[in-house]
This record gives sequence, C-alpha cells and structure tokens, in this order.
Amino acid sequence: MSSFSDFKLATELPAWKTLESVYKKSGKDFKVKEAFDEDPKRFQKLSKTLKNYDGSQILFDFSKNLINDESFSLLIQLAKEAKVEHLRDEMFKGSLINFTEGRAVYHVALRNRSMKTMEVEGKNTAPEVDAVLQHMKEFSEEVRSGKWTGYTGKAITDIVNIGIGGSDLGPVMVTEALKSYSKPGLSAHFVSNIDGTHIVETLKNLNPETTLFLIASKTFTTAETITNANSAKRWFLESAKDNKHIAKHFAALSTNAEEVEKFGIDTKNMFEFESWVGGRYSVWSAIGLSVALYIGYDRFEEFLKGAEAVDKHFVETPLEDNIPVIGGLLSVWYNNFFGAQTHLVAPFDQYLHRFPAYLQQLSMESNGKSVTRGNVFTNYQTGTILFGEPATNAQHSFFQLVHQGTKLIPADFILAARSHNPIEHNLHQRMLASNFFAQAEALMVGKDENQVKKEGATGGLIPHKVFLGNRPTTSILTQEMTPAALGALIAYYEHVTFVEGAIWNINSFDQWGVELGKVLAKVIGKELDDKEKVKNHDPSTRGLINQFKEWAL
Ligand code: F6P
Repeated sequence: MSSFSDFKLATELPAWKTLESVYKKSGKDFKVKEAFDEDPKRFQKLSKTLKNYDGSQILFDFSKNLINDESFSLLIQLAKEAKVEHLRDEMFKGSLINFTEGRAVYHVALRNRSMKTMEVEGKNTAPEVDAVLQHMKEFSEEVRSGKWTGYTGKAITDIVNIGIGGSDLGPVMVTEALKSYSKPGLSAHFVSNIDGTHIVETLKNLNPETTLFLIASKTFTTAETITNANSAKRWFLESAKDNKHIAKHFAALSTNAEEVEKFGIDTKNMFEFESWVGGRYSVWSAIGLSVALYIGYDRFEEFLKGAEAVDKHFVETPLEDNIPVIGGLLSVWYNNFFGAQTHLVAPFDQYLHRFPAYLQQLSMESNGKSVTRGNVFTNYQTGTILFGEPATNAQHSFFQLVHQGTKLIPADFILAARSHNPIEHNLHQRMLASNFFAQAEALMVGKDENQVKKEGATGGLIPHKVFLGNRPTTSILTQEMTPAALGALIAYYEHVTFVEGAIWNINSFDQWGVELGKVLAKVIGKELDDKEKVKNHDPSTRGLINQFKEWAL
C-alpha cells in the first residue's frame, strides 16, 4: 500500500454520523438491564466463544455492554467504512502499513507455526522465523538440562533479562503469568529501570558463575538497556576476570548485529529478528527467549500457537462474530460517543499481575496519536487511558470510583475457570470466581433507592447507598491460563488495538512521541557531569537542575 491519504477522518464516515445521532437519540439513555428483560437471548447473541488450536475455549461475554441491535450493526458498518478488513489484510500480506517508518507490521508472521508463506517485500519470512525458533529451542534445552554451563562448569540457575519497554514488559508479564510451568532451580529476573537500584538489588543475591544475561534490545542502542548491560558486564568480570567467559554468560536478542558485536557478545549467542517486529509486539520473537528458557521451548511454541489461532479467527471470521473486532468497536463506542477517557482491565488472576502494565504499552504506545494516516490532526479523541490491577485486590482500592464515581469506565474482567492452585478444596478459586461474577453484575444492575430503603437506610444516607449501575463490562472466561490461552488473550488485545487504530485512522505502529524526552535527557545528561550551574533551559527546569546539583553532586 503506497498511500494512506485517501482514508477519511473517522468523523466523515456516514456510520460515524449516524452513530452520533443514535447516541443522542437513544444510546446515551440505553439501559442494559432493560435490554436483558426485553431480549431473553441477549447473552447468547452477544457472547462469543473462541476456539483455540488445542480444542480449549475462551468465552467473551460482550452482553453487559451498552449496545443494542441498532448500535451494534452501525458499529459493524463503521468498521466496514473505515476499511478495517482491508487494512487487516494488508497487515497479513506484509504491506508497509507502518508508513512513517516504511515498515511492515508483521508480528503475526512470528506465530506462523503452520509455516504458510508470509512475505515481506517478496521474501518469505517463514523459514527465517523458524530457524530462530530452532536456535531458541536448542539453546533453551541446553540451558535447562544443565548441558550449558558457566565459566566454572556449573549449570545456570538464574537468567537476567535486561531490556526496557517491549523488550521487558512482554517477557516479564508472560514469565509471571506462566510461572506454574517453570522448572525448579531456574529463576528469571528482569532489569529495566536506569535507576541503579534495579540492577543492584537484582544482582545482590546472584552468583556470577551461574547467571546468564539476556540483553534484549531491538535497536541495541537504548540508553537504559546498554547502560544496565555494561554494569552487568562489569559485575560479571569482577569475578570471571577474563573477557573470554562472556560467551557463556551473555546472549543478545536484537536486530542489530553490529552493535551486539561491539558490545562483546559472541554473535553465535545472538538471537535475531527483523525490523518489521515492533517493540511492543516482540514477545513472540527472540525477545521471548527468557520465556522459552523459563517454561521450556515446547510451552513457548504452544503460546505462539494460541496467538496464531486468534490471528486465524481475526482474518477469517465475519465482522459480526469477529471477537477482536467487537472489542475494538466497543472501545470506540465508549471513547468517542460516550466520552469515556479510560479503560479498566482487571484480571481475576494473580499470575496476570503484570498484564495491565503490558497492555498499557500495547494500547497507549500504539494509539496515543493525534495525526491521521492522511497526515492531518484528528478532530476526535483517540487512544484510551488503559489501567488495571489484579482483582480482588483492586476491589479494595479503586473500584469505588468505578461503581459510584462520576466517570464512565468500561472494564474487562478476566478469569481462568480452573486454578493452577486449587487449595483448600478449591475454596480460594470459588471465592475469586464469585467476585468475578459479582463485580460485573453489580456494575450493571446497581442498586436503586427502593432497594436501599428496603435494606433500612433512611434520610440523607439513602443517596450514598444508591448504585446507578449500567456500567459496562466485558467478561473474559478461559478454561485455564495455559500458554495457549495466554497467547490467545494477548493476540486478542493486539487486534483490538489494531481495530481501534484503523477506525481512528492513525498509524498504530510508530512511536515518535517517546523521542523528544530521550533527546532532551541526553543533552541534560551531559550538563550533570559537573557542579557548574546551568544558565540555559526554562526557569523551572533550570531551578530544578541547579538544586539537584547542589544536593547530589
Ligand atoms: O522508547 C520506546 C521504545 O522504542 C519502545 O517502543 C521499545 O519497546 C523500547 O523503546 C525498547 O527499545 P529497544 O528494544 O530497541 O531497546
């Protein structure tokens, strides 16, 4: 695809205009509880089951959302008019849809385990992707079996992934989520922050003889990662003494062989991927090596296949039944018509405690844009503010605002039906599940004045105890949080993000917005080399820098 300028502003699409009037006429007063009374088949109609490659299933219940037949079909029409299918097909064809960087967006080719031909600029990516996976398999099997030893002949006990953004959040989130599949005797650690505390506290209890560092950086030029990697190298060499030992203790996950070599890592220990893999979409690539090491390569392959199953669904399913399409359209409905600013994702799953943080980068780095593919500023809201924490903890902190605050906060709740830890005859799991159901029900049903009075409240207390309800949720119920289910869940959110971006007519795949801060930090970094007061900058920044110098240098 060469030009994007023929794509219209979302607000110019006929379905958008009709949705605006439908929202004003009836959408804003829509009562989901009444919709259930009127349509006994609403749950069946608006809940969709995703079948994974291994026969397992995930149920997506969209029926508690603020939609009816009219708004739903208009949203589908909006997707058609915004050419979501066309753009999706271009992504799967390897077209250079990330046009501001002149790149394909081809993370979907990383989970092409059926080895279809998937080309970028005339070259089939499948053999190359498979070769890297085979390398990851061999390496992870050697390390896990103890065949790969450190410089004193001892097996590896600790893996430290050093990376940031997409080179950190995916690996951390997935290793945490799949902890129950890990092998005793092999721990995974993650260092991302440039704050020295992160690496110091991580290395404190590690033994250099049995520690393997994975330097994860697509560009291999990210300041935080390279600084941390150099500190790790110094720490290692304090014990190992000789540079030749680096080969046994450092591997690189990157697209930049030249910089990897300069750093001193043997290119035999380099796991490559291509520039068409965006950082926030890279956990499926060599960046996922810590995951393969931690849970074993076969499990990593299941994780990829789970995502591949969602890709197939996304490509082949008509829009009306297409689960990520529905998720993306609902997000647009709330963001642009109801004026919702945020989106809550609350996993009822402690293993998923880093999932919202992971999704924040996926969603907000992708869709935090205000210029269209036609190179003009949007005249509508784009990227939603995604936040979340595992429930039930979140219920005891910020859920108050979700239930009784003044803002509309659409929410996704996630639960695995079978627990990996069914302790106390499954009591914990039943309590967890009861909260998963209760929260979504309470947010929808609320509690009216009559009910509050029946329960004995009087006078001024009554309005405080009223819950207006009608707050939308999507409940996502997996059978178990397996590698395949997690792969599917992540791919679902990736495609939701894609659909949102397609409707908003923005490029979801670049990230120019993070550049300015990086450039300024480099300039200021040099100014912090000595005690000399700075005279440049704006008065506030100048005042802060000079105070810092007085206190810290
Ligand atoms: O600064 C943002 C970013 O470019 C992210 O998109 C990326 O995931 C992260 O930095 C890390 O980049 P790299 O993998 O090249 O070190």
